[in-house]
Amino acid sequence: MLKQTLIEATFAGAKILQKYFNGSFTISSKSNINDLVTQADIESEQAIFEVIRRRFPDHYILSEESGELKMDSNVKWIIDPIDGTVNFANGIPICCVSIGIEQDGKIILGAVYNPFMNEFFFGEKGLGATLNDKTIRVSNRNDVLRSCLVTGFPYSYLDVPNGPLEVFDKLIRYNIPVRRLGSAAIDLCWVAAGRFDGFYEHKLNAWDSAAGFLVVEEAGGRVTDFSGAHYSLYQPNLLATNGKIHDDLLLVLNGKGNSEISES
Ligand code: IPD
Ligand code: CA
Ligand code: CA
Repeated sequence: MLKQTLIEATFAGAKILQKYFNGSFTISSKSNINDLVTQADIESEQAIFEVIRRRFPDHYILSEESGELKMDSNVKWIIDPIDGTVNFANGIPICCVSIGIEQDGKIILGAVYNPFMNEFFFGEKGLGATLNDKTIRVSNRNDVLRSCLVTGFPYSYLDVPNGPLEVFDKLIRYNIPVRRLGSAAIDLCWVAAGRFDGFYEHKLNAWDSAAGFLVVEEAGGRVTDFSGAHYSLYQPNLLATNGKIHDDLLLVLNGKGNSEISES
């Protein structure tokens, strides 16, 4: 029932994205002029809430545009009604609905759906990860210098030691390709599918990563914070890889010099 409701809620949100994509919709700003929320974000969130509330009116909900709707429940739905809103607002078809379900503090189910590529990623704790019902696995590449990576940048400049630009600078100087798709949930799922060998970002919220993080783990990947500790949704730093290049990337994220990573 929980799984079925998650799938229905994800598709209900995605229907709203399809309704407005490349059409007309209102857009407003949040933390700064380029941190956007569109009419589609709000309506997608409402469509998702309706599906959840019909079956589970007493479940806890954490959702990007509405914040925390606290309930006395051990089940929490963690929702990003559109991940990749800037892409969505510009007609770039790299955006999705992302929903994770936490039970007793652990993510047990995650769904990420990009309706424009018709890609539905799903992760179930202990049971693996799928893309459109086919099992997916992370890549096998073990040489970070030959890897293909993806990252994202926060909405405002992050002035911290070993920040997003410093890490990006270092990886580019190693001639490592680092892409920037604009949707953390899709970045994570593409690591799970083996398209990227790794993804890192310095400032994520729980709704960006709740579903994708489980999809990566269930596809055999490793997800940590920048100290190498098991990832928690409630802190900002995330490194997700195929496991094989993880330690090398941790060195780079921690500002280690240019000699530490070498061909393997
Ligand atoms: C953003 C996207 C982006 C990432 C940002 C997120 P939003 O989410 O996932 O790729 O770099 O950190 O905030 O605002 O499109 O839901
Ligand atoms: Ca997001
Ligand atoms: Ca969002």
